[in-house]
Amino acid sequence: MALTRVQGIFTLVLLLPGACYAAVGGSWCYVGEMCGPPTWVSLGHCAGKRQSPIDIVTANVSFNSTLGPVILSGYGDHKKLRDMSNTGITVDVDLKDGLLLTGNGLPGTYMAKTIHLHWGNGPANPGSEHCIDGKRYSMEMHIVHTRDNMSLSDAMQDPQGLAVLGFFVQASDSAKGKTAKAWESFSKNLQRIAKKGSDTDLQGAVSLQDLMGSTNLARYYRYSGSLTTPNCDEVVIWSVFADPILVPTKVVAFFPFNIRSTDSSVGPHLENNFRPTQPIHDRMVEVSFFAKPRSAAPQASQTTALILLFLGVSALGFLPV
Ligand SMILES: *[C@@H]1O[C@H](CO)[C@@H](O)[C@H](O)[C@H]1NC(C)=O
Ligand SMILES: *[C@@H]1O[C@H](CO)[C@@H](O)[C@H](O)[C@H]1NC(C)=O
Ligand SMILES: *[C@@H]1O[C@H](CO)[C@@H](O)[C@H](O)[C@H]1NC(C)=O
Ligand SMILES: [Zn+2]
Repeated sequence: MALTRVQGIFTLVLLLPGACYAAVGGSWCYVGEMCGPPTWVSLGHCAGKRQSPIDIVTANVSFNSTLGPVILSGYGDHKKLRDMSNTGITVDVDLKDGLLLTGNGLPGTYMAKTIHLHWGNGPANPGSEHCIDGKRYSMEMHIVHTRDNMSLSDAMQDPQGLAVLGFFVQASDSAKGKTAKAWESFSKNLQRIAKKGSDTDLQGAVSLQDLMGSTNLARYYRYSGSLTTPNCDEVVIWSVFADPILVPTKVVAFFPFNIRSTDSSVGPHLENNFRPTQPIHDRMVEVSFFAKPRSAAPQASQTTALILLFLGVSALGFLPV
């Protein structure tokens, strides 16, 4: 336990260099009675009413036709992914300046700073942070942006200081082609950063666009939330994309297999680094695309089936009675 406490303090410092926290001295972890998520309520803002992640209940989301697609610039550039590091709680990739995010509902231009991932324990134990109607996907990728190129510590002082794009990443035997190859090449680097504190230069092997694949940027959920790690600052405009990125099963297995949570190459595997979903309280989740209410769907497909049956039977030359 003592060891874990020290690691927790280190993690805070590593994650947010330069940030000033009154609450530092607390410690946290993903698994453990003394430091797991239920204990985070005593840290920073983690007991607030605008926390992330959440379970997105699609029957309760509100369609907003003015949201439109998020607009990205520079994401196809292969030279933007710099250093990939093992922080002991995630795999983090530094981004060079110039990856810009705008769109309706975002009060400014946001610049991407880092990406990182959350995962479970292999394809059978999913570990995305957000859920859709209770469904958890294999992994979740977060692209963290600050408003008007603020530093991370300045962005923590602004209720709309961060915009995070969340992408579900799903293990699939049918994942093939360019996106699958990009994830294979990206995850090969994990072998070189097994130990906490180690890093490796990605040398322009992939772009963010390569990793995002053909994700439809016009289909996402939007809500106000927080960082999903202590101090859980309530400063994030979330956009969580509806359609998962499909990746080969071995890519999903690679994360917990390679990455250790301590600086020993035989230390515990880093797994299940996701926070449980948090209460929505009085927030509304907006959705950028029109989705039929669930109750209407069976009726529509029944009608279609009847018409098809009718046409089929007519073609055979007689009518059902
Ligand atoms: C939908 O929202 C209403 C009002 O906030 C709430 O009472 C209800 O439990 C929600 N439904 C689900 C399925 O979460
Ligand atoms: C729809 O989104 C726009 C942009 O964020 C916002 O200004 C507007 O208030 C939203 N409309 C509703 C009905 O929520
Ligand atoms: C963004 O901020 C970084 C770090 O503060 C700074 O080095 C860089 O010049 C800024 N970029 C732009 C385009 O303002
Ligand atoms: Zn995250």
